[in-house]
Amino acid sequence: MHRVKIIFLAMAFIGLSAAALNGNFSTGVSVAQAAGQQGQLLKLMKPAKMHVDASGPSEVSEIAGKGAVATELERKDVWVRVRLQGNGHTGWIHHSYLAVVETVAPVAVVEVPAVAAVVEEKVVAKEAAAVVPTAEKAVEHIVTKDASVSPADAHQAVAGEKPAKAVAKKEASGHHGPVLRHANVDMTDHAQIRRGLTVFTDVCMGCHSAKYLTYRGLMDYPEIGLTREALDELRGEKSLMSGMISDLSIEDAALSYGKVPPDLSLIVPGRRGGADYVYSLLTAYEHDHEGKVPDGNYNAVYAGNRIAMPDPLAWLDHDPGDEAELKQQAEDVAAFLAFIGDPHQNTRRAIGRWVMGFLLLLTFVLWRLKVEVWKDVKH
Ligand code: HEC
Repeated sequence: MHRVKIIFLAMAFIGLSAAALNGNFSTGVSVAQAAGQQGQLLKLMKPAKMHVDASGPSEVSEIAGKGAVATELERKDVWVRVRLQGNGHTGWIHHSYLAVVETVAPVAVVEVPAVAAVVEEKVVAKEAAAVVPTAEKAVEHIVTKDASVSPADAHQAVAGEKPAKAVAKKEASGHHGPVLRHANVDMTDHAQIRRGLTVFTDVCMGCHSAKYLTYRGLMDYPEIGLTREALDELRGEKSLMSGMISDLSIEDAALSYGKVPPDLSLIVPGRRGGADYVYSLLTAYEHDHEGKVPDGNYNAVYAGNRIAMPDPLAWLDHDPGDEAELKQQAEDVAAFLAFIGDPHQNTRRAIGRWVMGFLLLLTFVLWRLKVEVWKDVKH
């Protein structure tokens, strides 16, 4: 009887240790993510001259005041033709005076494993909230994002009468989430991670940053293992300890895409489906035949199907002959992002195997010891 108990306890102990070593104890925190609308509504960040045409600072029709809200009519280089909401006047304004009005709707709940990411999500939500949310837009946004939320519920959530989380949870529960494609990512395949770095720096970093990964990390992590020369070429003037920050400023991104491209350092641990999600997202651009998102990019995987990110790998309209190559690029960059989302995972797994072996051995030794100690006792 005793022996059974001891073995049972030992096994339970080992099981728990294994779970802990694999990092299976989720530290996920739910954070309501702010989501924006498209970029038609703009707000003046400071008083601006309204020009009669887009040829530059020529004739000025009037000065528009700070905080005025305007509708975007067209765009020409750095000039945006807008109609002021107050008096209906139109004119050209330099884009640096304008910010996109984002509506704030507590829509998707994302799992964020690290404190840094939680803080970041909060800051982004706060910034968005500071830019004039309109209730109707927020309601519209929730309802288009999730057909299972009734407009009445969405109104209550926006008005704060019902915890926004309830609506958000409903949406994020995944009961009708998109089917993800499986990405073949292998954290021991250094070549794949390295190829992913190239896709990341060549394509994604045009818009996205990975600020928690320093340039130095590219040399220090053996999985990436850049030589000093390759690293110096990549970082240019940037410091070794600088994070990988995109040259596209947040303001320009908001103006161009209507949304700020999220930092990708923790996107894999932060999204349900992880690397599969990233891979699927990049290969889910489709022609919008039914006209579901008339003013955006249709993506079959992105919640709500309207994504502000223009098809980065040019998946849409690709030649059938290029399909394998594009899939490979998507997979490689997913592998890279999975690696930087948890850069010590390989070390942890290696240590874990040793510890498991040690625990098994210890269990055996203790069991023999117990048999030895109790052998003369009658029970
Ligand atoms: C032209 C700018 C641009 C480029 C290039 C770009 N992105 Fe994006 N990306 C965006 C924007 C804008 C968003 C926000 C989309 C939204 O929320 O509608 C975004 C969002 C994302 C998201 C988050 C989706 C979500 O669930 O919230 C992921 C993941 C992503 N991009 C991955 C990538 C990868 C990987 C690459 C490189 C292959 C890349 N992006 C290249 C602009 C870009």
